Amino acid sequence: MSNSAHRSVWGSRIGFILASAGSAVGLGAIWKFPYMAGNNGGSAFILPYILLTIAIGFVVLLIEMALGRAARKGAAHALGQFGGRAWGVVGYISVLTGFLILAFYQVIGGWCLHYLIDACMGKGLITDTAQLGAYFDGFVTNGERVVANQIGFLLLTAGVIVFGVQEGIERISKILMPALFLLMLLLIVRGLTLPGAWAGVEFMFKFQPQDFNSSSLLNALGFAFFSLSLGSGTMMNYGSYLSDKVNLPTSVAWISFLAVMAAILGGLMIMPAVFAFGLNPSAGPGLTFVTMPAVFAQLPLGQGFAILFYICLVVAALTSAISILEMSVQFLVDELNISRMRAVVFNTIALLVLGIVCSLSFSSLSGFTLFGKSFFDFLDFTTSNIGMPIGAMGIAIVGGYLAWPLMQKQLCLTRDMSDILLSAVRFLIRFIVPCVILIIAGAGLFG
Ligand code: ALA
Repeated sequence: MSNSAHRSVWGSRIGFILASAGSAVGLGAIWKFPYMAGNNGGSAFILPYILLTIAIGFVVLLIEMALGRAARKGAAHALGQFGGRAWGVVGYISVLTGFLILAFYQVIGGWCLHYLIDACMGKGLITDTAQLGAYFDGFVTNGERVVANQIGFLLLTAGVIVFGVQEGIERISKILMPALFLLMLLLIVRGLTLPGAWAGVEFMFKFQPQDFNSSSLLNALGFAFFSLSLGSGTMMNYGSYLSDKVNLPTSVAWISFLAVMAAILGGLMIMPAVFAFGLNPSAGPGLTFVTMPAVFAQLPLGQGFAILFYICLVVAALTSAISILEMSVQFLVDELNISRMRAVVFNTIALLVLGIVCSLSFSSLSGFTLFGKSFFDFLDFTTSNIGMPIGAMGIAIVGGYLAWPLMQKQLCLTRDMSDILLSAVRFLIRFIVPCVILIIAGAGLFG
């Protein structure tokens, strides 16, 4: 019997929800969201992000998972089975996109690991942000250290995947996800009790119509897609492990809710403290690595809080990386009919090599460019602006048009959905989602 005939299944609904939320809640929520909010006028980014996730992201995620469950296979097979050969190619592009995301994602995961180890050793807690910036630059340009941490992070990820869906992914998600939310709440309470912290909350939520512009809206849209891991094969694969007995719409609503909550908590973990210490909320990608250590350096018991903060980052990055590697491993198992162990080894070796090139693109390989971008930036750019939009378009067209009757059946498998809701999902996935995807991709490529 082929390996693919033994498709894994989630042991419980809560395990599925937490693992999928773990996929969604990653560096996006804790690293990207706060600095994007900081750069895009706070509430002018956050409020549209919340609305767009509820209105658009939820629907794409629902259909992506429904396609996976209906096919009991990942994107490469599911899109081909329901949409025909051409859409099968789109499925392969999705899988490749997820794989290439992990190639650079593991590098940032490694940075988080490095900062966690530093925090444990009491290093890097300095109040001067200029010095912290120099410290960060010194680290990312130190090829050997970046590679060592990247490999450590990748091996941690592979170590979980080896144990399989129930014993590995589900088990660890049930521990790590509640722990992540608890740690974030602890850090938020600490931040909010600092004098002057309220300005950070106002920055995030106070409705200021004058700050809204097309760029903050577009960024919010792109982030809503990234944060739900849409169009990269990952969620379709997780959907393919889901039993027919589980109510898909309510489960996907939970996953979307947890993803939005995590991003808001990620912002609340950082912004109030940044404002309380008069630091710059628009520090960009360095906010987490350059600004936050300055906060911890000024807090009583700052080292402890720094450790907790970097644990949050590592955990969030790890659960997302796990979901992407699992998708890639399952793809090889399905396509080549090889054992799970072999597929883990092949993927890990390939990712190790690509990851090293990405790691070194900040140092010895900085001169190696593709279309004017470093290898790291090239992968980041092509996956966000080409790969994910193509994958998401595949979901919208195949799910919304070519396989709609099947999708309808999937959505109503355990409980009927009202006609109004079904019509709303159909309208959004057929007409609104394709337009939104074209706008995101167009802005990313030509904006
Ligand atoms: N959804 C994952 C993240 O936000 C990729 O990091």
